[in-house]
Amino acid sequence: MTTSLKRFAGKVAIVSGGADGMGAACVRQLASEQARVFVLDVKHEMATALAQELSDNGADVTALKADVMDESELRTAIANAIELGGGVDTLINVAGGSASGLVSEIDLGVWDRLYKLNLRSTLTACQCVIPAMRDGGGGSIVTMSSISGLRGDPDWAAYNAMKAAILNMTQSLAWEEGQYGIRVNAICPGPVASERMLATISDAHVAEYAHAIALGRLGKAEELAQAILFLASDQASFVTGTSLVADGGLTASTAQPTSWAKLPRKPAKPI
Ligand SMILES: NC(=O)c1ccc[n+]([C@@H]2O[C@H](COP(=O)([O-])OP(=O)(O)OC[C@H]3O[C@@H](n4cnc5c(N)ncnc54)[C@H](O)[C@@H]3O)[C@@H](O)[C@H]2O)c1
Repeated sequence: MTTSLKRFAGKVAIVSGGADGMGAACVRQLASEQARVFVLDVKHEMATALAQELSDNGADVTALKADVMDESELRTAIANAIELGGGVDTLINVAGGSASGLVSEIDLGVWDRLYKLNLRSTLTACQCVIPAMRDGGGGSIVTMSSISGLRGDPDWAAYNAMKAAILNMTQSLAWEEGQYGIRVNAICPGPVASERMLATISDAHVAEYAHAIALGRLGKAEELAQAILFLASDQASFVTGTSLVADGGLTASTAQPTSWAKLPRKPAKPI
């Protein structure tokens, strides 16, 4: 699903975690909207294949290797993208990941890894683009939070805490950078059927999700890309410091079993 809009013509966009999943869907949509796109990912071969495929079809897409947990590699990749692109208009910071663990038991190494992968890398990427965006008269940043950043979940405290911190940092950054014409917003996806996610949950869990989501199914990466690119684009020119929940209605419910009991159990819809 790509649209025929041309909101990013002449703009330079950097997408971290752009080789796969929601990041790749953003790259495809940005390319179809004529952006000059830089794909930063630790899966460099996959990013290169995506860049090649899109460039063969007339787009302007470059893959740059970056493990966002490696501060120096991340800073170098973003600096290279800014130099090659002659500036940067948009940062879409998708790279991140999760791990489970009860608060009472969680290994601090896991906690630190999720901090580095999600929060520290987001901070670093923002620091890298801000000077160039200020010099260019503005820009837009979309950070990757999650509905997990809005609530606590048993066994997921580390992930939820990092995504909550990203939301809060997004608000501070929006205030700090608004004076320079830089907008900063967060996206809060609900469950999205990435290959990684489907590999970790059973069919029974997919059916459980279908029941918990008002629209009766998991989201698609392309649907999230549409929400992310709205925030990144000039269509959202008066939107900053906020978060957009795209979760098929999951968090619209307080999930009280007595009210849910009246709903017919929906069959899982195809994704
Ligand atoms: N899938 C979901 O249901 C869901 C829901 C809410 C939020 N999120 C968040 O969305 C983001 C992407 O999720 P997805 O499901 O599309 O994941 P995915 O695994 O399909 O894609 C993530 C991309 O990030 C890259 N990446 C991972 N670690 C990296 C690193 N250290 N350095 C550079 N690149 C790295 C991967 O190679 C991959 O290309 C994550 O931040 C995740 O926490 C996912």
